[in-house]
Amino acid sequence: MTEPKSLLRLDNITKNFGAIEALRGISFEIKRGEVVALLGDNGAGKSTLVKIISGGLEQSGGKVIFEGEERNFSSPAEAKAAGIETVYQDLSLCTNVDVVANFFMGREIVKRFLGIPILQEAEMEAAVAKAMANAGTKIPSLRTNVEHLSGGQRQAIELNRFVHWGGKLVLLDEPFAALGVEQTRRGLEMIKRIAAQGIGVVIITHIMAQAFQVADRIVVIRQGKVAGNVLRTQTSPDEVVQMITGGAIHGEAIPADAQETQKSLQQH
Ligand SMILES: Nc1ncnc2c1ncn2[C@@H]1O[C@H](COP(=O)(O)OP(=O)(O)O)[C@@H](O)[C@H]1O
Ligand SMILES: [Mg+2]
Repeated sequence: MTEPKSLLRLDNITKNFGAIEALRGISFEIKRGEVVALLGDNGAGKSTLVKIISGGLEQSGGKVIFEGEERNFSSPAEAKAAGIETVYQDLSLCTNVDVVANFFMGREIVKRFLGIPILQEAEMEAAVAKAMANAGTKIPSLRTNVEHLSGGQRQAIELNRFVHWGGKLVLLDEPFAALGVEQTRRGLEMIKRIAAQGIGVVIITHIMAQAFQVADRIVVIRQGKVAGNVLRTQTSPDEVVQMITGGAIHGEAIPADAQETQKSLQQH
């Protein structure tokens, strides 16, 4: 039995690419309103896992249980219809129209007057303003074409649109890779506010400080397996680095390659 607040449960997910075992039995759970940071070295299997959750790849074995039901999404569109989406920076926005138009793309509010369809611009703008305010996002004008907005603002639009249309679980794969310090800080704040509205968030990051700033729980993937699943308040960056590298915690010798990775992680 999954408890009522469970949003997504992964049960023994495996994925093979030919002879490569990318995922070797991944199980963990994401609750509504919870931010889970997914950490792990390059090649650990993080992106593969996120693609399986969001319908971009089919698992070789195991179950994806969403809102208590086993689901097998055969495309990202199918996952999106169920409320699961990977949000990329600006990939799905139309840059030559404004923020409101992007929010309502294909879902415009139209009323008929003497049989003639009329876009309800004021109503749509008010709805977008409300959605943006809920996430604490400030954009100079909702009538600005997206081409004039920054990467961080575009990401905010994508995320707020996702929430507005009933999104339930959002997946973010290295969302701040192209953003500066201040935009990243705002992005992390926005994620917390979105989670506070009951949305589940999975964020892949290789920057330990970001994970500790935003996550309720940290799940570490190492060589296709869960190497750690801990509450952020009950762990430390050092301990998470040990999980990522497989380095010893109690004074055992740490292999040379793991020492290298530990050094690079601590530089962030
Ligand atoms: N389409 C693919 N074909 C073959 N191997 C793949 C494919 N995608 C990922 N892999 C392999 O699966 C493993 C996990 O990759 P990935 O999920 O991208 O790791 P991460 O995102 O943690 O860096 C790696 O060994 C990678 O080379
Ligand atoms: Mg990856």
